[in-house]
Amino acid sequence: MSDSISFARGAPCPEALSTDLIAECSQKALAADGVRLLSYGTGQGYPPLREVIADMRGVNADQVFVTNGSLQGFVFLLETFLEPGDLVAVEAPTYDRALLQLNLHGMKILPIPVEVDGIDVGALEAACSAGNVPKMLYTIPNFQNPSGATMSQAKRQALLELAERFDFTILEDDPYGPLRFEGEHLPGLAEGAPVERVMFTSSFSKTVAPGLRVGYVIMTPEMAATFATTANQTYISPAFLAQGALHQLIINGHLEPNIAKVTDLMRERRDAMVAGLSEMPEGTVCTPPEGGFFLWMELPESLSADALFAPAKDAGVVYVKGSACVLEGGERTLRLAFSGVSPAEITEGMTRLGTVFRAAT
Ligand SMILES: Cc1ncc(COP(=O)(O)O)c(C=O)c1O
Repeated sequence: MSDSISFARGAPCPEALSTDLIAECSQKALAADGVRLLSYGTGQGYPPLREVIADMRGVNADQVFVTNGSLQGFVFLLETFLEPGDLVAVEAPTYDRALLQLNLHGMKILPIPVEVDGIDVGALEAACSAGNVPKMLYTIPNFQNPSGATMSQAKRQALLELAERFDFTILEDDPYGPLRFEGEHLPGLAEGAPVERVMFTSSFSKTVAPGLRVGYVIMTPEMAATFATTANQTYISPAFLAQGALHQLIINGHLEPNIAKVTDLMRERRDAMVAGLSEMPEGTVCTPPEGGFFLWMELPESLSADALFAPAKDAGVVYVKGSACVLEGGERTLRLAFSGVSPAEITEGMTRLGTVFRAAT
């Protein structure tokens, strides 16, 4: 067991990375299409992969733009679809890198609280009614990063109606959706709306391997073409070998079993972390997630997760401060990723964390 235990990284554990499978798929890809994979290609992504993603999502291939990880798609959207000063609604808390990019690109940010059943649609409606209509809402409806919350079916419906009524666009970011431990899969926002209303982005970082750096965005063909120009001007074309390997992985039927394997690994880790909640001080609030990578905690009133970060680090455990995932406040909250460590490390890490937190009460 390593000395320091990191609950900070939203990355899959080593056991989730199928190196033999990726080797086999890379070899197949090179044998089938080696020259194309080793050449410069289209900025929009490896065409056969775009075709299979289009099939999976029920859209046309010209609506699929494959990125070097989905964060890049988010940045392209900020650079092409939005302009500095545009109002963008986000969940509070939200993915810290998305928040960072919104700030770096000079967007005005409208934070909308997340409840146990997802974004507070009533609060967004109130903001819109008061004249604060965002150009875009960025939402992570399933096993949200960082809160772990999943948006209820009723809220999904209400959100779509609100977007229609006030005419704003939704960006649905769903890298964790396939990793459900229990409960029923809920239809995505993009499944119930035209692509002009709801753009969709996802990634193979959490379900296959982040090192492949393959994500994608589903949008209008016109926007995908604009993205391709931006890609051409920066990296020319993406890394086709990784995309070719992923294409082989999907067409040979390995994606579903891989997702099942990763889901089992993550469920085991979630359970170990939930068991470790008994170490936390009385008054700690946490709603365990039904999937994904993260557990979100709110400490009792007297404690600050910001102030306890350094003592926790000294005790050999690190986490993400909740305050990094909101524009202001959040000092009592923290995000614990169970994804990257073993169940034994989780048990030990929760014991260390509980000891530090309880000592501070
Ligand atoms: C909600 C969300 N979106 C996007 C990403 C970016 O993933 P990648 O760029 O590896 O596809 C992450 C990674 O943590 C995430 O949690």
